[in-house]
Amino acid sequence: MTLIFLPPGQHIRSIYREMKNNYYRSMETFKAPFKGRSLLNWIDWTPSEIETLLNLAFQVKAEAHRGEIHQRFLGKTIALIFEKRSTRTRSSFETAFGEEGGHPVFMSTNDIQLGGKESVKDTARVLGRMFSAIEFRGFKQEHVEQLAEFSGIPVINGLTDDFHPTQALADIMTLKESFEELKGLHLAYCGDGRNNVARSLMLICAKMGIDFSVYSPKELFPHKDIIEICKPFAEISRAKIQISDKIDVVKGADALYTDVWVSMGEENLKEQRIKLLSPFQINADLMNATGKPNTIFMHCLPAVKGQEVTEDVFESTASRVWDEAENRKHTIKAIMLGLI
Ligand code: CP
Ligand code: NVA
Repeated sequence: MTLIFLPPGQHIRSIYREMKNNYYRSMETFKAPFKGRSLLNWIDWTPSEIETLLNLAFQVKAEAHRGEIHQRFLGKTIALIFEKRSTRTRSSFETAFGEEGGHPVFMSTNDIQLGGKESVKDTARVLGRMFSAIEFRGFKQEHVEQLAEFSGIPVINGLTDDFHPTQALADIMTLKESFEELKGLHLAYCGDGRNNVARSLMLICAKMGIDFSVYSPKELFPHKDIIEICKPFAEISRAKIQISDKIDVVKGADALYTDVWVSMGEENLKEQRIKLLSPFQINADLMNATGKPNTIFMHCLPAVKGQEVTEDVFESTASRVWDEAENRKHTIKAIMLGLI
C-alpha cells in the first residue's frame, strides 16, 4: 500500500491531472527519427543514423534503470513472426513494446499461413492493414525483404540466415560501455565466419570504424559478397578488415567474439563443424593471444560451452555476455522507437 501525503489544500485529483498531463506530454514530445523505415540489415544505414539509434538505446537504458515509465507505443501493435526459436529477441520485442503501452502479437509458423498456404507477399499485405510494424525471424532474407516491400509498414529483421542486425547494435552498445570510444577498437570474431552474426558484425564495424578480424578455418571464411559490401564503408571509416586462419589475427584485439558453431537450420552439419572449428575455440590461451590485459569476451548467446567457448572464459570477469543480453532489449526498444 502506498500512502500519499497531500500538501494542505491540494486535492488527489490534481495529482492525477498532473500525472495525466506528464503522460500526454511524453507522447507528444517523442518523434521517431526514422519513422516508416525498415531495418533489414545495416547496409543502407549511415554511421550517423546508427549513432542516433545507439544514443536512443543509451537513453532508454538510463530510463529503465531509473524506473521511469513511458507509454510511447500506446495504441500501436507489432506482429512478431518467428519461424526459428528465440529467447532474447522475442523477450526483448515483447517486453519493450508492451511496457511502452503497445500490443505485441506473437505468431510462430505453426500459427499462421506464412509461406505455406499463403505467400509472403499476401501475408505482408494483410499484416500491413492491421499492424503498426512487423518483426520477422526466419530463414530467408528474401522473405523479410518482401515483408518490407509489400506491407507498407516498418519491418525489423530479428534474424535470418544472412543477417542479425539487432544483435550487432546491442554488441556495439556493449563495446561502447566497456571502452567508451568505438572508433579504433579491434573486434576479433572467432568461429563460423560465414554466419548471420559474423556478417552483421562485419557490416556494423566497417560502418563505425571498428577494426574487424575473422579467425576461422578457410572453409568458413566470410563469403565474398559481404566483404565486397563492407569494403567501401571500411575505407570511409578507416576500419581494417582482416580474415585469416592464423592466430596472429587476434593480436591486439580489444574483444574476442564467438557464436555457436551450428546455426539454426544447419543441425545436420554438427559433426563436420566440430571437426573444423575445434582449433578456433575461445579459451584462456586464445584470450592471452591478444597480448592485451583487458580483452573482453563476447557472445550473442545461446552458448554451447565446451564448443565455441570454454566454461572458464564464459564465466570469467572478462565476459560481457549478460550485458550484451540486457542490451538486446534496450537496443530493440530504441530501434522500434526510431522506426515506428
Ligand atoms: N542472441 C539471440 O538472438 O538470442 P535468441 O536466439 O535467444 O533470440
Ligand atoms: N548464428 C546463430 C545466432 C543465434 C542468435 C543462429 O543463427 O542460430
